[in-house]
Amino acid sequence: MLARVCQRFALVFILVTVPLTGYTDAADDELEQALDAVPNLENGRRIFKICSSCHTTESWGTPDGKYPQLAGQHHTVLLKQLADIRMGNRDNPEMLPFAQPAVMGGPQGLADVTAYISTLPMDPHPGTGNGKNLAHGKELYERKCGRCHGDNGEGDDESFFPRIQGQHYAYLLRQLEWIRDGKRRNVFRGMSRRLKKLSDADFEDIADYVSRLIPPQDLLAPRGWKNPDFWHQVEH
Ligand code: HEC
Ligand code: HEC
Repeated sequence: MLARVCQRFALVFILVTVPLTGYTDAADDELEQALDAVPNLENGRRIFKICSSCHTTESWGTPDGKYPQLAGQHHTVLLKQLADIRMGNRDNPEMLPFAQPAVMGGPQGLADVTAYISTLPMDPHPGTGNGKNLAHGKELYERKCGRCHGDNGEGDDESFFPRIQGQHYAYLLRQLEWIRDGKRRNVFRGMSRRLKKLSDADFEDIADYVSRLIPPQDLLAPRGWKNPDFWHQVEH
């Protein structure tokens, strides 16, 4: 029993201290440099080809939530998540090999690919939930989430608060569970604290409500849109 308690304690200690200590240096330096770089969109497009094999050529991800939609996400958020993923502050074993500097470049590569993604319009039809408890989802959202993610889930570029409106339901749900359960280590503590008392059913209702929040019209793709940068190449 004592051994198990000690083991637990050691694990918690590692989980708490490694992100806090290991975190700042390298990931923050890289983030600062990428934020200052002047992006090269052509190089960004070239790098994005690698990303598109999972996130799709439109960068819309998949409605089953395996891959998140990237389009429409704030530039600072894309940069921070990428820097965190490749430094190991956010676990993503599937993507990790592709996020390495040898594959996508250093801070300049981060700046280029995120600037390119910022030019892409959002999926007008993301995956949603069953629509049964939207009023409850709305009430919880307004009480627990809107202060940071905005009234309509628009997030905030300056504060690194992600845009979550119009994101795939299944992806939102997974992130909420992972954040509550401490599996997403890079997350802002102010957020994980607010999730502690929520149940899986609450998460379903919130995620359903958020996935249906409609992004501003000028960010949405027109009907039938395909990324022309890639579709021209496929046709040749
Ligand atoms: C092999 C598949 C794969 C490839 C290739 C890939 N990704 Fe990902 N990416 C994922 C998965 C899976 C997730 C979600 C992980 C999770 O659920 O936490 C993700 C998450 C992300 C996120 C976080 C999104 C958010 O909303 O927080 C960003 C940003 C991202 N990817 C950018 C990129 C970029 C840029 C590239 C190309 C350099 C790329 N990805 C290549 C699989 C991939
Ligand atoms: C105190 C501010 C704050 C509150 C309150 C908050 N969040 Fe967050 N949330 C954040 C920040 C900051 C991040 C990005 C964390 C990181 O750096 O990985 C985030 C990340 C997320 C993500 C992951 C987004 C992605 O693209 O991967 C989701 C989903 C999310 N929040 C939903 C919610 C919901 C739903 C609530 C209410 C139950 C909520 N948040 C409450 C600040 C907050």
